[in-house]
Amino acid sequence: MLEVTNLNKTYNTYNSNVHALSNIILTVKKCEFVVVMGESGCGKSTLLNIIAGLLAPTDGTIVYNGDIITGRKKSDLQEYRCRHVGIILQNFSLLNDRTVRQNVELPLRIRKTDKKQRGTLVEKYLEKVGMLDKIDVFPNQLSGGQKQRVAIARALISNPDIILADEPTGALDKANAEQIVKMLREIADSGKMVIMVTHNMDVIKMCDRCITLSDGKMI
Ligand SMILES: Nc1ncnc2c1ncn2[C@@H]1O[C@H](COP(=O)(O)OP(=O)(O)O)[C@@H](O)[C@H]1O
Ligand SMILES: [Mg+2]
Repeated sequence: MLEVTNLNKTYNTYNSNVHALSNIILTVKKCEFVVVMGESGCGKSTLLNIIAGLLAPTDGTIVYNGDIITGRKKSDLQEYRCRHVGIILQNFSLLNDRTVRQNVELPLRIRKTDKKQRGTLVEKYLEKVGMLDKIDVFPNQLSGGQKQRVAIARALISNPDIILADEPTGALDKANAEQIVKMLREIADSGKMVIMVTHNMDVIKMCDRCITLSDGKMI
């Protein structure tokens, strides 16, 4: 279970303070697929980044299966991410000097999975997102939608318990987007948690719960 309690985030910049999140309270259980919606700038990415342990909140806590995640040191947060979290960031964040294969197998290398198994899994997940034919290509030779699908394969390959997806279908055509959402639904059903930011109303039919943010608040 993932428990987000009284989460606040203020970005302090040189001339202003932006209250990106105010008092967010959210509990996500196994098998749940939660959608986060809201206008640009309402705090969706900030929320996902805090749950991923990539960003520290100003106030509030994230608790995963009884462990407090917030306020922990960097190495603990890395371990939490490595063990439990698969994240698909809005900008894909692929490494441009590595091939598709090398990008997708990275989470397995961190986990010291042996080479043969890495190879099998990379092919399996690239196949799932329809990108197996690009396995030896570099990201700069891919379209936005193709990069997105590679980023999805990379996030899922380590079989994470919590999948955080920031507009994972934003660059995809309808058919590919539907396939990805269906896949995320199946992953949730298999006992995982999926938290997905999207503007796509079709996704709502597939999710268990939809929360809407407005100006950093849940409405
Ligand atoms: N690093 C940052 N420094 C200052 N302000 C930021 C930073 N990141 C995001 N913000 C501000 O916080 C608010 C929420 O941003 P974000 O979480 O990216 O929204 P969304 O993903 O819903 O578009 C916006 O007003 C944005 O400008
Ligand atoms: Mg965003």
